[in-house]
Order: sequence, then structure tokens, then C-alpha cells
Amino acid sequence: MADTIELSVVDGIARVTLARPDVRNAFNAELIAELHRIFTRIAAADDVRAVVLAGAGKVFCGGADINWMRESLDLSFEANAIDAERMSDMFRTIDNCPRPVIARVHGAALGGGAGLAACCDIVISADDAVFGFTEVKLGIIPAVISPFVLGKIGATHARALFLTGERFSAQRAQAIGLVHEVVAAGQLDAAVDRVLGEIASAGPLAVSAAKLLIRRVLDATYAQTRSLTAAAIAERRISPEGQEGLRSFLERRKASFVRE
Ligand code: COA
Repeated sequence: MADTIELSVVDGIARVTLARPDVRNAFNAELIAELHRIFTRIAAADDVRAVVLAGAGKVFCGGADINWMRESLDLSFEANAIDAERMSDMFRTIDNCPRPVIARVHGAALGGGAGLAACCDIVISADDAVFGFTEVKLGIIPAVISPFVLGKIGATHARALFLTGERFSAQRAQAIGLVHEVVAAGQLDAAVDRVLGEIASAGPLAVSAAKLLIRRVLDATYAQTRSLTAAAIAERRISPEGQEGLRSFLERRKASFVRE
């Protein structure tokens, strides 16, 4: 299993690297299962403050493995649906990861690879990376990734890009909200480090609570958000971390949760 993903955890940073460079880190059943397993473990690891998701070799991720999909030609509707649900669960586990997930995109993020980027909180891309929801070019559709992608780029861009399957630039990906920062390829690691530095100086429980808040507010009606958001901030204000954060600011000292 270990050969589809590389994982390291150093100083509270989990680095998850897709490691099928010969097929441009395309998803097969093994890679999907391994990603799911690793993100489930990360979700339960209290010592992890952030996750960096990257791809080994020339690109971030070339989407579903076309050879693996070839096998789907012989599968029934039910067997195909089970495979797709497994993939959906994997994306959801990343999307729901309680720690911030930073995507480090270089080369290409196509099909499921673009969907993977959409599941991350902060996406930093090399300026020469290419993106695309290219499924229609293969006669299929970006179905499993659609909830995550729509949550990022909205219907207007999904309609234009899902229907053409066209490839687009990192600059366009940034303009539609799929990417947050575009830098020269040589600056990718520095840009990721800058974001990690921001996260290191924030309260880790507050960071997780902020991510959960977004999910809950998106899922709620206004009537529910009034009490949900009031309870969420009240909880943080009475928590040890929230009190330490505010006190340290008032006392002009660094909070105990700041990592240097
Ligand atoms: N599934 C399976 N194999 C893939 C793959 C995928 N999604 N993407 C690339 N590969 C394989 C190629 O078949 C090739 O194999 P080979 O060395 O045995 O010939 C190898 O990876 C390198 O591909 P190549 O196209 O030469 O690499 P590149 O660096 O020039 O370009 C991509 C990388 C990702 C831009 C390009 O491979 C590509 O466009 N792939 C198709 C992506 C796609 O349509 N994904 C959507 C699936 S729904």
C-alpha cells in the first residue's frame, strides 16, 4: 500500500504526497483507499496542525487512472456505483479534515485531480500548472467531485468548465476561486511555508473550530445559524485556548500556542 502515497509528519506538519509519478499520480483503487486511510488517521491525530497535499514527479494529479477506468467497462451499474461511492468518501474525508489542508499544485490538476484541489482549504499553484474538468472529453462527467468543486467555484464557472472540458490556466483557476495563490514554480515551497507560518501562529483548536463553523453554516438555514454561530463563539471565548489568545494579546506577549 505504502507505494501509492508518501507520508511524513514533522513538527506538526503532515506531508501527504501522491506517489504514482509514472502515471502522473492518477487515482486507482489502492491510491483512493490509502488517501482515505491516511486522512482518517490525520483527523484523529492531535499533534498535527496542518497538512500539505502534493504530487511526486511532474504533476500534482492527472485524475482517475484511465487503465483502472478501463476495468469499469466490464462492471455493472451497481459495481460502478460502489467504486464511485468509495471515491466520494475519500474526497469527503479530505474535505472534512479538521486540520487545514494546503494543496501544493504543480504541473497539472485534471479531472479528479482538480476535484482533489477543490477539497483543500488553501490551494497554491505554480503559474504554469494546467487545470481542467476534462471528463466530458472521455464521455463521462465530473460527478463525484461536483459537490466539492461547486462549493468552490459555483454554478456559473462549473457550467462553463464542466460542459467544455477545456483545460485552463492557474490564473483562471485563481480567478474562479479554485486556487488561492499563483506563484512561479520555484516559489511553491516558500509560498506553502508562508501559509504554514500563519497557521503555526494561530490557536489550533480555533483553526479547527473555524473550519467546522464554515461547514455548519453552509449546511444550515439562517434561523439555525443565529444560535449556531452564537454558541460557536461563546464556546471559543470560554475555552482555555480562546482565553489564552485574548489575554496574551492584552498582555502584549506571545500566546502559548504559537509555534516558532
Ligand atoms: N491515467 C492513467 N495514466 C495516465 C494518466 C491518467 N489519468 N495521466 C497520465 N498518464 C500516463 C500516460 O499514459 C503516460 O504513460 P506512458 O509513460 O506509459 O506512456 C504517463 O502517464 C505520462 O503521461 P504524459 O502525457 O506523457 O505526461 P505529461 O507530463 O506530458 O502530461 C498530463 C501530464 C497529466 C497533463 C497528461 O498525461 C494528461 O493530460 N493526462 C490525461 C489526464 C486526464 O484526462 N484526466 C482526466 C481523467 S477523468
